Amino acid sequence: MAYAAGVDVGSTQTKAIIIDEDGSIVGRSLIDTGANVVKAAESSFVTALAEGDIDEEEVEYIIGTGYGRYRVTFGNSQVTEISCHGRGAVHLFPETRTVVDMGGQDTKAIAVNANGEITDFCMNDKCAAGTGRFLGAAADALDIPLDDLGPVSLKSTKPVKISTTCTVFAESEILAWIGKGKKIEDILWGVHKSIAARSAGLMRRVGINDEITFTGGVTRNVGMVKALEDRLDKHLNISDDCHYMGALGAALFALDSVKAGRAPVGRTAAVTS
Ligand SMILES: Nc1ncnc2c1ncn2[C@@H]1O[C@H](COP(=O)(O)OP(=O)(O)OP(=O)(O)O)[C@@H](O)[C@H]1O
Ligand SMILES: [Mg+2]
Repeated sequence: MAYAAGVDVGSTQTKAIIIDEDGSIVGRSLIDTGANVVKAAESSFVTALAEGDIDEEEVEYIIGTGYGRYRVTFGNSQVTEISCHGRGAVHLFPETRTVVDMGGQDTKAIAVNANGEITDFCMNDKCAAGTGRFLGAAADALDIPLDDLGPVSLKSTKPVKISTTCTVFAESEILAWIGKGKKIEDILWGVHKSIAARSAGLMRRVGINDEITFTGGVTRNVGMVKALEDRLDKHLNISDDCHYMGALGAALFALDSVKAGRAPVGRTAAVTS
């Protein structure tokens, strides 16, 4: 059996996906990127191999993506994460024409055609205001775990209006609302609404079509899914694999190379010790 792999080394988390010849996922892994980016890439790949009970030699082509894609030292080539999220989204949800990827550092709006090719894209400018990092700052300020952000925010009845557009100032604004006696859920829902508004603006710049797929780690946050659906007044495609979408797209590009018979030149083994 021949396999192909994609490793998405994001600014915050590293994802690896292994697919078989039919494009079905047979192994996946997710770890924090941390300070040692090369090591994160290796560990995630090796963990995905173990999950799928696959030998490294059976993986014929590996593509790196994400901000650390050139640190996938055991990979064969690299593809940008914009292309990978687009390709992955159209593979899982074939009618997708707009993709919104919310990661730890960036939010990207991507327009795709039926083949999963990118026709336009737009991203937040060097600022984490509409991203997972902003949500992480809110979680820290309110001292609640990341996993609880969404469920707690959905209890809100009177959301506050968050005016800051800067992650650095988010904490002080949140503390100011706590000082005024506002409930945690109302502050949090305000944070989600503010990010949704910012993301919808980004999406409008590439055009919002009927079928929208939401990708990246922030898809794990049910509050963000709801806030964005409310803001757009549209349903978003979501699945448990949406966090892995960049890695899945990279694996699909790698499978193209396997099928085209491209030799995996110069590949070195992923060593973990
Ligand atoms: N269980 C969870 N609940 C809520 N949010 C989560 C959860 N897991 C991850 N996230 C969010 O997802 C973010 C990481 O997403 P992702 O892995 O897509 O980022 P990345 O690819 O490393 O970043 P970028 O694409 O910006 O370089 C975290 O910052 C966090 O906000
Ligand atoms: Mg990413």
